[in-house]
Amino acid sequence: MDPSAARVPHPGHFDADPSGYEAGRPPYPDALWARLRALGVLRPGLHALDLGAGTGQATGPLLTAGLSVTAVEPGERLARRLAERFPAARVLVARAEDVELSRAGYDVAVAATSIHWMDLDVVLARVREALTSDGRFLVWRTEFGDPTASLTPFRERVGEIVARRAPVVDVRRRGGTAELARALTAGGLFAVEEIDVTRWSVDLDEAGVRALFATFSDWSEAEVAAAGAAARDLGGTVREHYVTPLIALRAI
Ligand SMILES: C[S@@+](CC[C@H](N)C(=O)[O-])C[C@H]1O[C@@H](n2cnc3c(N)ncnc32)[C@H](O)[C@@H]1O
Repeated sequence: MDPSAARVPHPGHFDADPSGYEAGRPPYPDALWARLRALGVLRPGLHALDLGAGTGQATGPLLTAGLSVTAVEPGERLARRLAERFPAARVLVARAEDVELSRAGYDVAVAATSIHWMDLDVVLARVREALTSDGRFLVWRTEFGDPTASLTPFRERVGEIVARRAPVVDVRRRGGTAELARALTAGGLFAVEEIDVTRWSVDLDEAGVRALFATFSDWSEAEVAAAGAAARDLGGTVREHYVTPLIALRAI
């Protein structure tokens, strides 16, 4: 296999292996859920919309907190797994751009590591319409590799793997949190209430590295194998430092 043959990121990537996604992605850290609780958005009885729900990494904790959840997921296999895993959720198989939603039907909308796949010109207006007048839109996204953490030997190896990659056209929305916050508020439908950054760490063994990196839409099989081999060379378990910025928006 050619190790420089990187994958072109595609939103359908996750649907190829829902159980791999479910097993490979670590859950969001408790500190993120604590922040959401402090913002008052995890109250029982609230109606939540989970956009790009995948296999339910946000749906599950929202249901556990007592919210009712409508989960929107375009991947048919992911949506099937989501419905099996969380029968209490209402699952809609659709893109956020196309889904039929009731007007002012939701107190909270969530996009958990999914907003970068969406067309904001379409989705922001739809989310605003679906939310109540004082509704909140919570957008977060884990960056797998905290740029402020010290460079670990494993991250050096990851950097080498990525550096060998042939350039590809990346369809995802890129840019940092400030740029995303500007894009989310540009249309005048939402205002930033708070930006909160959760930094967290996880220990991964070789199998854990392979399972997680295989969920990344821009990693080829050969690159995933190389990352697993790096973990093995470095003693079998590596500590990874991740960061999950949360942009909490209020409808205006
Ligand atoms: C990285 S996964 C995140 C899944 C889950 N929310 C989580 O936190 O782990 C991105 C998800 O966004 C979904 N997605 C991609 N394009 C989308 C769109 N236009 N509308 C809604 N969801 C989309 C994918 O199918 C995938 O389930």
